[in-house]
Amino acid sequence: MNLKRYQEAIESSNIVSKTDINGIITFVNDEFCKISGYKKEELIGKNHNIIRHPDVPKENFERLWNTILAKKTYVSTVKNLAKDGSTFYVNTTVIPMVNENDEIEEFIAIRYDVTENVKLTKELKKKEEELEQLNSTLELRVKKQTQELRELNENLEKRVKEEVEKNREKDRFLFQQARLASLGEMIGNIAHQWRQPLSELGIILYKIKKVFKRKNLDTDEFQEVYQEAKNVIKKMSDTIEDFRNFFNPHRPKEVFLVREALDEAMIVMQRTLEKYNIRLDVICSKEVKIEGYKSEFSQVLINLLNNSKDAFIKNDINNRVIVLEIKKFNEKYAMVVFKDNAGGICESIIDKVFEPYFTTKHASSGTGVGLYMSRMIVQNSMNGSMDVENIEGGVCFKIKIPVCKEKEI
Ligand SMILES: Nc1ncnc2c1ncn2[C@@H]1O[C@H](COP(=O)(O)OP(=O)(O)OP(=O)(O)O)[C@@H](O)[C@H]1O
Ligand SMILES: [Mg+2]
Repeated sequence: MNLKRYQEAIESSNIVSKTDINGIITFVNDEFCKISGYKKEELIGKNHNIIRHPDVPKENFERLWNTILAKKTYVSTVKNLAKDGSTFYVNTTVIPMVNENDEIEEFIAIRYDVTENVKLTKELKKKEEELEQLNSTLELRVKKQTQELRELNENLEKRVKEEVEKNREKDRFLFQQARLASLGEMIGNIAHQWRQPLSELGIILYKIKKVFKRKNLDTDEFQEVYQEAKNVIKKMSDTIEDFRNFFNPHRPKEVFLVREALDEAMIVMQRTLEKYNIRLDVICSKEVKIEGYKSEFSQVLINLLNNSKDAFIKNDINNRVIVLEIKKFNEKYAMVVFKDNAGGICESIIDKVFEPYFTTKHASSGTGVGLYMSRMIVQNSMNGSMDVENIEGGVCFKIKIPVCKEKEI
């Protein structure tokens, strides 16, 4: 009687089934029917694997059978398939029942529903994974942001450096301009003081001519020397005027032939080239007009000629040749290509030669502003460019300036 009560108690609170030794269902309680969705008559006489879920691996069943055939109790959480295709989870205990001869007669399976638990555990696991994922992406995002910040910082540093450099350049330029202004003032004073004696010299020369004429010494030879002296005086007063213009910041731009600027430069440089035995070959296939300041541009050519002269002397070159080519480039630019054979510039310093105050010369012979000023003139006053490179045996300076449009000429 008591046993029956036990049986009732278990059956009412658990999912119970019985199978024969081959796994054929011999008994199911109401709870079993409820959870599996099958009616009793659909189950009795069928193999217990009717509720087997395809996800459950074969090995699990092998383990089950091995255990229960060895007359041991099998305990496990099992995933099952209901009639309607839904899944349910049950904690299962399968007990082999033996008779008095110790032979297995049947198996009783007692289960209770843990579907909700399993679902919750799964959900929890999913959430944990999501959290982990979030954590790792968070780390990644923090890393990315740190990287961005670092880049911003580096950029900022770079920009500060650039600005400082720009400011320094501006300072140099202002200093340069101040120097030029005081130089201009000085030249102005010299010009003022020289103009008077120069015209006096002209008058004296004229008096000499009169005396010579009176004494009939007015020969052709005298005439020639007299003319030469007059030319020198004129040249001197022109040069003074040029210098004054050169330092005048308000002078208007003019249109001129590159060739004319070279001629002006030669007025100053002719004697020097002769003295140091330097041959100048000018190749000018086409006259090219540009706009800017002729005397400044002459100054650029003078700087180049002087630099070559210094290099010829320093390197003790015998056959001294400078080739100056004036041509058009792409019809849009005037090109002045200036080559010498004075030995070239050491590659380690060639990038520095346009920097202000860069010089390899003794303080008394070079200030290091020649090329700096030249490039300033070409770039700033004439919208051009000026570059240098070494060539076989010497250097090559290339000056490129936009040509004047025809209607402006
Ligand atoms: N034709 C050249 N051959 C070899 N070196 C040159 C030549 N032209 C320039 N250099 C080098 O470039 C340097 C800078 O030239 P830059 O004309 O600017 O200054 P500088 O001649 O030294 O002094 P400054 O022109 O102010 O009197 C020179 O000191 C020299 O070392
Ligand atoms: Mg120089």
